[in-house]
Amino acid sequence: MIDTKHKTDHFKGVGVLNPSDLIGKEYGSIFTVNTKEFYLLKPTLMDKFKALKRKAQIIIPKDAAHIILHCDITPGKTILEAGVGSGGLTTILASMIQPDGMVISYDLRSDFINHAQKNIDNAKLHDFVTIKEKDVTKAIDETNLHAIILDIPNPWDAVKHAWNALETGGTLCTYSPLISQVENTIKTMKQYSFIDIKTFETLYREMIVKEQGTRPSFDMLGHTGYLTFARKVTSELL
Ligand SMILES: C[S@@+](CC[C@H](N)C(=O)[O-])C[C@H]1O[C@@H](n2cnc3c(N)ncnc32)[C@H](O)[C@@H]1O
Repeated sequence: MIDTKHKTDHFKGVGVLNPSDLIGKEYGSIFTVNTKEFYLLKPTLMDKFKALKRKAQIIIPKDAAHIILHCDITPGKTILEAGVGSGGLTTILASMIQPDGMVISYDLRSDFINHAQKNIDNAKLHDFVTIKEKDVTKAIDETNLHAIILDIPNPWDAVKHAWNALETGGTLCTYSPLISQVENTIKTMKQYSFIDIKTFETLYREMIVKEQGTRPSFDMLGHTGYLTFARKVTSELL
Protein backbone atom coordinates (compact mmCIF):
# COMPACT_ATOMS: atom_id res chain seq x y z
CA MET A 1 0.00 0.00 0.00
CA ILE A 2 1.41 3.41 -0.97
CA ASP A 3 1.12 6.25 1.53
CA THR A 4 1.26 9.25 -0.83
CA LYS A 5 1.24 11.75 2.04
CA HIS A 6 4.38 10.41 3.65
CA LYS A 7 5.79 8.80 0.47
CA THR A 8 6.38 5.48 2.16
CA ASP A 9 5.36 1.91 1.33
CA HIS A 10 3.82 -0.30 4.02
CA PHE A 11 4.60 -4.01 3.62
CA LYS A 12 2.30 -6.27 5.63
CA GLY A 13 4.23 -8.25 8.24
CA VAL A 14 7.49 -6.45 7.39
CA GLY A 15 7.23 -2.73 8.12
CA VAL A 16 7.54 0.67 6.48
CA LEU A 17 9.96 1.54 3.67
CA ASN A 18 10.68 4.95 2.21
CA PRO A 19 11.60 4.15 -1.44
CA SER A 20 13.71 7.32 -1.71
CA ASP A 21 16.11 5.74 0.83
CA LEU A 22 17.05 3.28 -1.95
CA ILE A 23 18.04 5.95 -4.49
CA GLY A 24 21.76 5.75 -5.24
CA LYS A 25 22.16 2.22 -3.86
CA GLU A 26 23.65 -0.37 -6.20
CA TYR A 27 21.63 -3.28 -7.56
CA GLY A 28 22.57 -6.37 -5.58
CA SER A 29 23.10 -4.48 -2.34
CA ILE A 30 21.26 -5.39 0.86
CA PHE A 31 18.91 -3.06 2.74
CA THR A 32 16.91 -3.58 5.92
CA VAL A 33 13.32 -2.88 6.88
CA ASN A 34 13.01 -3.14 10.66
CA THR A 35 15.18 -6.20 11.35
CA LYS A 36 14.62 -8.00 8.03
CA GLU A 37 17.19 -7.94 5.19
CA PHE A 38 16.34 -7.61 1.49
CA TYR A 39 18.27 -7.53 -1.79
CA LEU A 40 17.81 -4.53 -4.08
CA LEU A 41 17.33 -5.98 -7.60
CA LYS A 42 16.45 -4.41 -10.95
CA PRO A 43 12.71 -4.93 -11.69
CA THR A 44 12.01 -7.64 -14.26
CA LEU A 45 9.13 -7.72 -16.75
CA MET A 46 7.42 -10.12 -14.33
CA ASP A 47 7.78 -7.51 -11.53
CA LYS A 48 6.18 -4.88 -13.80
CA PHE A 49 3.39 -7.32 -14.57
CA LYS A 50 2.75 -8.07 -10.88
CA ALA A 51 2.60 -4.33 -10.14
CA LEU A 52 -0.37 -3.82 -12.49
CA LYS A 53 -3.63 -2.67 -10.90
CA ARG A 54 -6.31 -5.12 -12.10
CA LYS A 55 -9.82 -4.05 -13.08
CA ALA A 56 -10.80 -6.64 -15.71
CA GLN A 57 -9.61 -10.26 -15.84
CA ILE A 58 -6.11 -10.16 -17.34
CA ILE A 59 -4.25 -12.60 -19.59
CA ILE A 60 -1.63 -14.15 -17.32
CA PRO A 61 2.00 -15.05 -18.16
CA LYS A 62 1.41 -18.77 -18.86
CA ASP A 63 -0.88 -17.73 -21.73
CA ALA A 64 0.90 -14.51 -22.71
CA ALA A 65 4.16 -16.42 -23.28
CA HIS A 66 2.48 -18.60 -25.93
CA ILE A 67 0.92 -15.52 -27.55
CA ILE A 68 4.40 -13.97 -27.87
CA LEU A 69 5.85 -17.09 -29.51
CA HIS A 70 2.97 -18.09 -31.79
CA CYS A 71 2.31 -14.50 -32.95
CA ASP A 72 6.05 -13.87 -33.40
CA ILE A 73 6.00 -10.68 -31.32
CA THR A 74 9.49 -9.22 -31.68
CA PRO A 75 11.03 -5.69 -31.79
CA GLY A 76 9.68 -3.45 -34.56
CA LYS A 77 6.37 -5.29 -35.10
CA THR A 78 3.00 -3.50 -35.31
CA ILE A 79 0.22 -5.47 -33.63
CA LEU A 80 -3.36 -4.88 -32.58
CA GLU A 81 -5.20 -6.18 -29.53
CA ALA A 82 -8.81 -5.88 -28.32
CA GLY A 83 -9.91 -5.21 -25.66
CA VAL A 84 -7.28 -3.50 -23.63
CA GLY A 85 -9.03 -4.29 -20.30
CA SER A 86 -6.53 -3.62 -17.51
CA GLY A 87 -3.62 -3.45 -19.94
CA GLY A 88 -2.17 -6.75 -18.69
CA LEU A 89 -1.36 -8.25 -22.08
CA THR A 90 -0.60 -4.76 -23.44
CA THR A 91 2.27 -4.39 -20.96
CA ILE A 92 3.87 -7.61 -22.13
CA LEU A 93 3.31 -6.93 -25.85
CA ALA A 94 4.70 -3.39 -25.58
CA SER A 95 7.81 -4.67 -23.80
CA MET A 96 8.42 -7.07 -26.70
CA ILE A 97 7.94 -4.70 -29.68
CA GLN A 98 10.00 -1.77 -28.34
CA PRO A 99 12.01 0.25 -29.32
CA ASP A 100 10.46 0.80 -32.76
CA GLY A 101 7.25 -1.24 -32.88
CA MET A 102 3.72 -0.28 -31.82
CA VAL A 103 0.81 -1.91 -29.99
CA ILE A 104 -2.60 -0.57 -31.01
CA SER A 105 -5.26 -1.41 -28.43
CA TYR A 106 -9.02 -1.07 -28.94
CA ASP A 107 -11.61 -1.04 -26.17
CA LEU A 108 -15.28 -0.13 -26.04
CA ARG A 109 -15.20 1.32 -22.54
CA SER A 110 -13.54 4.58 -21.54
CA ASP A 111 -13.23 3.46 -17.87
CA PHE A 112 -11.08 0.48 -18.93
CA ILE A 113 -9.09 2.67 -21.31
CA ASN A 114 -8.28 5.17 -18.52
CA HIS A 115 -7.34 2.39 -16.12
CA ALA A 116 -5.13 0.62 -18.68
CA GLN A 117 -3.45 3.89 -19.67
CA LYS A 118 -2.41 4.46 -16.01
CA ASN A 119 -0.87 0.98 -15.84
CA ILE A 120 0.97 1.56 -19.13
CA ASP A 121 2.24 4.97 -17.97
CA ASN A 122 3.43 3.47 -14.66
CA ALA A 123 5.34 0.81 -16.60
CA LYS A 124 6.87 3.61 -18.75
CA LEU A 125 5.57 1.98 -21.94
CA HIS A 126 3.37 4.87 -23.22
CA ASP A 127 5.61 5.49 -26.27
CA PHE A 128 4.82 2.00 -27.57
CA VAL A 129 1.03 1.86 -27.09
CA THR A 130 -1.85 3.70 -28.82
CA ILE A 131 -5.26 3.08 -27.25
CA LYS A 132 -8.43 3.76 -29.26
CA GLU A 133 -12.03 3.78 -28.05
CA LYS A 134 -13.39 1.50 -30.76
CA ASP A 135 -15.49 -1.63 -31.28
CA VAL A 136 -13.24 -4.18 -33.02
CA THR A 137 -16.29 -6.04 -34.33
CA LYS A 138 -17.34 -2.96 -36.33
CA ALA A 139 -14.07 -2.15 -38.13
CA ILE A 140 -10.27 -2.14 -37.89
CA ASP A 141 -8.64 1.06 -39.21
CA GLU A 142 -5.13 -0.35 -39.62
CA THR A 143 -3.73 -2.57 -42.39
CA ASN A 144 -0.62 -4.74 -42.80
CA LEU A 145 -0.61 -5.77 -39.14
CA HIS A 146 1.78 -8.51 -38.09
CA ALA A 147 -0.63 -9.97 -35.52
CA ILE A 148 -4.04 -9.38 -33.95
CA ILE A 149 -5.00 -10.68 -30.51
CA LEU A 150 -8.67 -10.74 -29.51
CA ASP A 151 -9.72 -11.07 -25.85
CA ILE A 152 -13.41 -10.21 -26.23
CA PRO A 153 -16.57 -12.30 -25.66
CA ASN A 154 -17.40 -12.64 -29.39
CA PRO A 155 -14.14 -12.83 -31.36
CA TRP A 156 -15.87 -14.46 -34.36
CA ASP A 157 -17.57 -11.11 -35.08
CA ALA A 158 -14.13 -9.53 -35.68
CA VAL A 159 -12.61 -12.31 -37.84
CA LYS A 160 -13.55 -10.67 -41.16
CA HIS A 161 -12.00 -7.31 -40.12
CA ALA A 162 -8.93 -9.13 -38.78
CA TRP A 163 -8.43 -10.89 -42.13
CA ASN A 164 -8.55 -7.54 -43.96
CA ALA A 165 -6.19 -5.86 -41.48
CA LEU A 166 -3.48 -8.56 -41.33
CA GLU A 167 -0.48 -8.76 -43.63
CA THR A 168 -0.15 -12.00 -45.62
CA GLY A 169 1.23 -14.58 -43.20
CA GLY A 170 0.06 -12.51 -40.21
CA THR A 171 -1.36 -14.30 -37.17
CA LEU A 172 -4.78 -13.98 -35.57
CA CYS A 173 -5.00 -15.13 -31.95
CA THR A 174 -8.14 -15.41 -29.87
CA TYR A 175 -8.37 -16.03 -26.12
CA SER A 176 -11.69 -17.49 -24.95
CA PRO A 177 -12.73 -19.19 -21.70
CA LEU A 178 -15.43 -21.35 -23.33
CA ILE A 179 -15.23 -24.11 -25.97
CA SER A 180 -18.45 -22.84 -27.59
CA GLN A 181 -16.62 -19.54 -28.27
CA VAL A 182 -13.71 -21.45 -29.82
CA GLU A 183 -16.07 -23.44 -32.06
CA ASN A 184 -17.80 -20.29 -33.33
CA THR A 185 -14.46 -18.57 -33.96
CA ILE A 186 -12.93 -21.48 -35.89
CA LYS A 187 -16.09 -21.89 -37.96
CA THR A 188 -15.75 -18.24 -39.02
CA MET A 189 -11.98 -18.51 -39.57
CA LYS A 190 -12.64 -21.34 -42.01
CA GLN A 191 -14.96 -19.09 -44.05
CA TYR A 192 -11.92 -16.86 -44.70
CA SER A 193 -8.55 -18.03 -45.90
CA PHE A 194 -6.92 -18.71 -42.55
CA ILE A 195 -4.65 -21.74 -42.35
CA ASP A 196 -2.70 -23.55 -39.64
CA ILE A 197 -5.60 -23.19 -37.19
CA LYS A 198 -4.88 -24.66 -33.76
CA THR A 199 -6.36 -24.42 -30.26
CA PHE A 200 -4.86 -25.39 -26.90
CA GLU A 201 -4.78 -24.49 -23.25
CA THR A 202 -1.83 -24.36 -20.86
CA LEU A 203 -1.65 -25.62 -17.27
CA TYR A 204 0.96 -24.36 -14.81
CA ARG A 205 2.12 -26.38 -11.79
CA GLU A 206 5.01 -25.25 -9.63
CA MET A 207 7.36 -27.77 -7.98
CA ILE A 208 8.22 -27.52 -4.28
CA VAL A 209 11.84 -28.60 -3.81
CA LYS A 210 12.85 -29.38 -0.21
CA GLU A 211 15.57 -31.47 1.41
CA GLN A 212 13.01 -34.12 2.37
CA GLY A 213 11.84 -34.44 -1.25
CA THR A 214 10.25 -32.73 -4.21
CA ARG A 215 6.55 -32.58 -4.99
CA PRO A 216 4.10 -30.49 -7.04
CA SER A 217 2.53 -27.50 -5.31
CA PHE A 218 -1.03 -28.12 -4.09
CA ASP A 219 -2.07 -24.96 -5.96
CA MET A 220 -2.20 -25.17 -9.73
CA LEU A 221 -3.08 -22.61 -12.38
CA GLY A 222 -5.47 -24.68 -14.44
CA HIS A 223 -8.04 -23.46 -16.92
CA THR A 224 -7.97 -19.77 -17.77
CA GLY A 225 -8.73 -19.55 -21.49
CA TYR A 226 -8.31 -21.49 -24.73
CA LEU A 227 -5.82 -19.98 -27.14
CA THR A 228 -6.59 -20.26 -30.85
CA PHE A 229 -4.06 -19.27 -33.51
CA ALA A 230 -4.48 -19.00 -37.30
CA ARG A 231 -2.44 -17.49 -40.14
CA LYS A 232 -3.76 -15.42 -43.00
CA VAL A 233 -2.98 -16.37 -46.58
CA THR A 234 -4.38 -14.80 -49.72
CA SER A 235 -7.59 -16.43 -50.93
CA GLU A 236 -6.10 -17.16 -54.38
CA LEU A 237 -3.90 -19.83 -52.82
CA LEU A 238 -6.87 -21.88 -51.63
C1 LIG B 1 -11.14 -9.49 -20.28
S1 LIG B 1 -10.90 -7.84 -20.75
C2 LIG B 1 -9.35 -7.84 -21.58
C3 LIG B 1 -8.17 -8.02 -20.66
C4 LIG B 1 -6.82 -7.78 -21.29
N1 LIG B 1 -6.55 -8.72 -22.35
C5 LIG B 1 -5.72 -7.85 -20.25
O1 LIG B 1 -4.85 -8.76 -20.32
O2 LIG B 1 -5.70 -6.99 -19.33
C6 LIG B 1 -12.02 -7.66 -22.08
C7 LIG B 1 -12.11 -6.22 -22.57
O3 LIG B 1 -12.65 -6.25 -23.89
C8 LIG B 1 -13.45 -5.09 -24.06
N2 LIG B 1 -14.32 -5.39 -25.21
C9 LIG B 1 -15.38 -6.24 -25.24
N3 LIG B 1 -15.91 -6.28 -26.49
C10 LIG B 1 -15.15 -5.44 -27.27
C11 LIG B 1 -15.19 -5.04 -28.62
N4 LIG B 1 -16.14 -5.52 -29.45
N5 LIG B 1 -14.28 -4.15 -29.09
C12 LIG B 1 -13.32 -3.66 -28.26
N6 LIG B 1 -13.24 -4.00 -26.92
C13 LIG B 1 -14.13 -4.87 -26.45
C14 LIG B 1 -14.13 -4.92 -22.71
O4 LIG B 1 -14.57 -3.59 -22.53
C15 LIG B 1 -13.01 -5.31 -21.75
O5 LIG B 1 -12.27 -4.17 -21.34
